[in-house]
Amino acid sequence: MAASYILLLSALLALAASPAMAGDPSALQDFCVADNTSDVFVNGLACKDPKLVKVEDFFFSGLDKPRNTTNKVGSNVTLVNVNRIPGLNTLGISMARVDFAPYGLNPPHIHPRATEILTVLEGSLYVGFVTSNPDNKLFTKMLTKGDVFVFPQGLIHFQFNHGTKNAVALAALSSQNPGLITIANAVFGSKPAISDDVLAKAFQVDEKTVHRIQAQF
Ligand SMILES: *[C@@H]1O[C@H](CO)[C@@H](O)[C@H](O)[C@H]1NC(C)=O
Ligand SMILES: *[C@@H]1O[C@H](CO)[C@@H](O)[C@H](O)[C@H]1NC(C)=O
Ligand SMILES: *[C@@H]1O[C@H](CO)[C@@H](O)[C@H](O)[C@H]1NC(C)=O
Repeated sequence: MAASYILLLSALLALAASPAMAGDPSALQDFCVADNTSDVFVNGLACKDPKLVKVEDFFFSGLDKPRNTTNKVGSNVTLVNVNRIPGLNTLGISMARVDFAPYGLNPPHIHPRATEILTVLEGSLYVGFVTSNPDNKLFTKMLTKGDVFVFPQGLIHFQFNHGTKNAVALAALSSQNPGLITIANAVFGSKPAISDDVLAKAFQVDEKTVHRIQAQF
């Protein structure tokens, strides 16, 4: 009895001591440059010896270059996260360049670990996000060059180039490793596939329709 009471008490204390974390845990030192040779599994990546840290660990070049948008959706995301800049480890931030062909789409997706703030550098974009259940309210906006828009952490969002010219956006994300779940790919292109029964019921369609969509992924 006493033991279970202490257990409950310590669980409550632990809850009270951990504020709702909106982003990556904060750093306990100036930097913790990722050691990509380490076999240690921690939340994030192990630090390399600070004495071996070089300026290149904080550097990436080439985000000025347009990327190839000749693909099914007509967009291309260049993510500069901790895998590209090891110095981002534990710093809770990353960025991305997104190129859009005319009518190109960055399809509905989620970043499980990051809020995103996006600025349009060239062209115009129709953007939006959907709130969680039960409302599923859609917020949308037409953006032009210089406009900035926020996509709150964990919500489904998209960007669509409604124009006839290329568009370019730069996004900052509140995690060293925001993660990406593209809804259509995850649901209809999982390996192995989610069973027909599940998808047919979830989307309220017949199995033929499920197969037709799955064939696209
Ligand atoms: C680790 O990082 C170094 C320096 O950035 C790079 O040259 C090397 O290819 C990386 N190794 C792996 C396994 O990613
Ligand atoms: C994005 O562009 C790069 C270079 O322009 C290309 O190598 C890559 O395959 C493209 N990715 C997609 C998904 O089209
Ligand atoms: C872009 O990618 C497509 C499809 O992979 C390819 O056919 C085309 O040559 C690429 N364009 C450039 C400029 O690299």
